[in-house]
Amino acid sequence: MSAPARSGLRRLAVLGHPVAHSRSPAMHNAALAAVGLDDSWAYEAIEVAPDGFGQRVRTMAAEGFVGANVTVPHKPAALALADGSSLRAREIGAANTLVFGGGVITAENTDAAGFVSSLPSSPAGARALVLGAGGAARAVVWALLREGAEVEVWNRTGSRATELCDALGGSPSLAPDPASFELIVNSTSIGLGGEDPFAHLPLQEDAMAPGQTVVDIVYTGQGPGPLLEAAARAGANTVDGIEILVRQGAASFELWTGLEPPLDVMRAAARSG
Ligand code: ATR
Repeated sequence: MSAPARSGLRRLAVLGHPVAHSRSPAMHNAALAAVGLDDSWAYEAIEVAPDGFGQRVRTMAAEGFVGANVTVPHKPAALALADGSSLRAREIGAANTLVFGGGVITAENTDAAGFVSSLPSSPAGARALVLGAGGAARAVVWALLREGAEVEVWNRTGSRATELCDALGGSPSLAPDPASFELIVNSTSIGLGGEDPFAHLPLQEDAMAPGQTVVDIVYTGQGPGPLLEAAARAGANTVDGIEILVRQGAASFELWTGLEPPLDVMRAAARSG
């Protein structure tokens, strides 16, 4: 259970399992302070197991919550329980943002827009290789196709890549040639537990090059992992999971408060963990 709220406080939270590692409370509370809302708004982390998720969310509005972020493993459940949702969230099949207002729960997905805005340039027309076929990969593939990229999807379990492409578009790839892509996105969980990406993914440490952009959506809080370190050594552009976290959080912040998110403040808070 979360702490009792001050009366009149507008509460926000991230719901996850696990959630203790989340940088979202630090990032959003810094943002609220920067725009002068910290005396009337507050953001907290709430640990909730899958079997208690629906019930927990349904009581939040009565406890003063006006919105929430939702992280692993609750994103599909958040979409399913909402009274209303955006077309984007329904197409991706997951919601990372909830808004409580007027007695209803509305679901949105800001992961896709957050991913696109973290890229150093528009992916329109680019050849993009997406590694993975889970929930994170779905948002990435949806976003890249919407931006006009040409998307190939590799996954350890090939049938899941085929299913993802059947649902959203893009082409499954069994043995991609990474050198032929301008954009490479790791949206597998490889790296989270310290695994060697070059042992598990169809990438070679010495085959990345300037002109490529390499994105690792995993964030461990331990700085760039071996994938982004090798990409940077090769002169490629790199985007890490913290930048994507900041961008999706900024989009959620704007949705809840109606204010322009203070990106630099959010980035500094997210990185100072
Ligand atoms: P999420 O919703 O966070 O994307 P997920 O649905 O569990 O989580 O997906 C995890 C992704 O990481 C999957 O693409 C998974 O590949 P499989 O579909 O073959 O399971 C990928 N993954 C996890 N461990 C992996 C490993 N050791 N090697 C390669 N891919 C791995």
